[in-house]
Amino acid sequence: MNVKTLGLLGTGVIGGGWAARAIHCGINVIAADFDPTMEKWLRDSIDNSRQALSQLTEGIPLPPPGKLEFTTNPLEMAEKSDFIQESVSEIEELKTKALLPVSEVARPEVVISSSTSGFLPTDLQKDLKHPERFIVGHPFNPVYLCPLVEIVGGKLTSEEAKAVAREFYEDIGMQVLMVNCEVPAHIANRLQEAMWREILHMLNEGMATTRELDESIVYGPGLRWAVMGMNQLYMMAGGDGGARKFMEKFGPTLTMPWCNMDGPKLTEDLLDKFEFGTNQQAEGKTVRELEAIRDECMVAIQKVLAKHDFASGKTLNAFRARKENQRG
Ligand SMILES: NC(=O)c1ccc[n+]([C@@H]2O[C@H](COP(=O)([O-])OP(=O)(O)OC[C@H]3O[C@@H](n4cnc5c(N)ncnc54)[C@H](O)[C@@H]3O)[C@@H](O)[C@H]2O)c1
Repeated sequence: MNVKTLGLLGTGVIGGGWAARAIHCGINVIAADFDPTMEKWLRDSIDNSRQALSQLTEGIPLPPPGKLEFTTNPLEMAEKSDFIQESVSEIEELKTKALLPVSEVARPEVVISSSTSGFLPTDLQKDLKHPERFIVGHPFNPVYLCPLVEIVGGKLTSEEAKAVAREFYEDIGMQVLMVNCEVPAHIANRLQEAMWREILHMLNEGMATTRELDESIVYGPGLRWAVMGMNQLYMMAGGDGGARKFMEKFGPTLTMPWCNMDGPKLTEDLLDKFEFGTNQQAEGKTVRELEAIRDECMVAIQKVLAKHDFASGKTLNAFRARKENQRG
């Protein structure tokens, strides 16, 4: 593996998650953010993730943790990096402006990946130097515990850049989903957004509170989604008749008028409902406290799935095997 130093551009929620995962896997990180106050935030967020990461990778022979360097100069980061992950705010112009000088300084073989949740790689890469090494590598929060990363190439992206990215991401324990069709919001966010629109409509129209909406997921479909996706689950819901039987039974409901394709207007009233409801659900816990609960449970779920060599547990087992092989 040639990535000894990972360069990060933007060190917010997502940049911090990349830093924690890479450092835990023995990779040095040089993190650049134009806001100097982010250094403390970044170091705190790496500290906060350490316990969950150690639990998740317990018994996996990892090298000693990498070192963190922080700079407010993206060019210094670009010069020193073997792989660059951009995670600046989701504003297309900001991203293209931030990426251009980085691409002019980074060695031509260094892959530059964007964490963008929705923009197309073809749009982001067009003015870059060596655009063929640019990809989207879209992760999920918390990056240090969610294995999924969607790799999307643009029109100018080389197959080699995608292969290098796959190798790097797998080396830090991730599950790569090669997205072969370039579409806004890639795959997983398209799905999440569809549900999110419905949630906001129901909240807006006073049909349910944030708690009720969340409970409808947590105690029901959410529990099974960590194990299997909707297609496989619905196939089983067809009984012995499988997928076709399921569609015979439930296909016609797809034309029912309960599907809102457009999002609701983000009025103050809707924002109040969202804020009030989620604060009530938190029952006084801070975001950090909620994160700790989420992390502990996500580790436990992946460990149980590892016992069955299934879904994200299979990724964890593959990571263990890879690290044992590398140790020799
Ligand atoms: N938050 C999520 O759940 C999530 C999940 C997957 C992907 N993403 C994507 O990751 C990216 C980052 O999201 P986030 O939630 O971490 O945002 P964030 O606002 O928490 O962090 C963005 C950081 O980028 C820095 N920044 C902005 N412009 C910069 C520049 N020109 N040079 C250097 N630093 C700069 C800011 O100071 C800030 O620290 C976005 O593209 C987002 O769509 C977010």
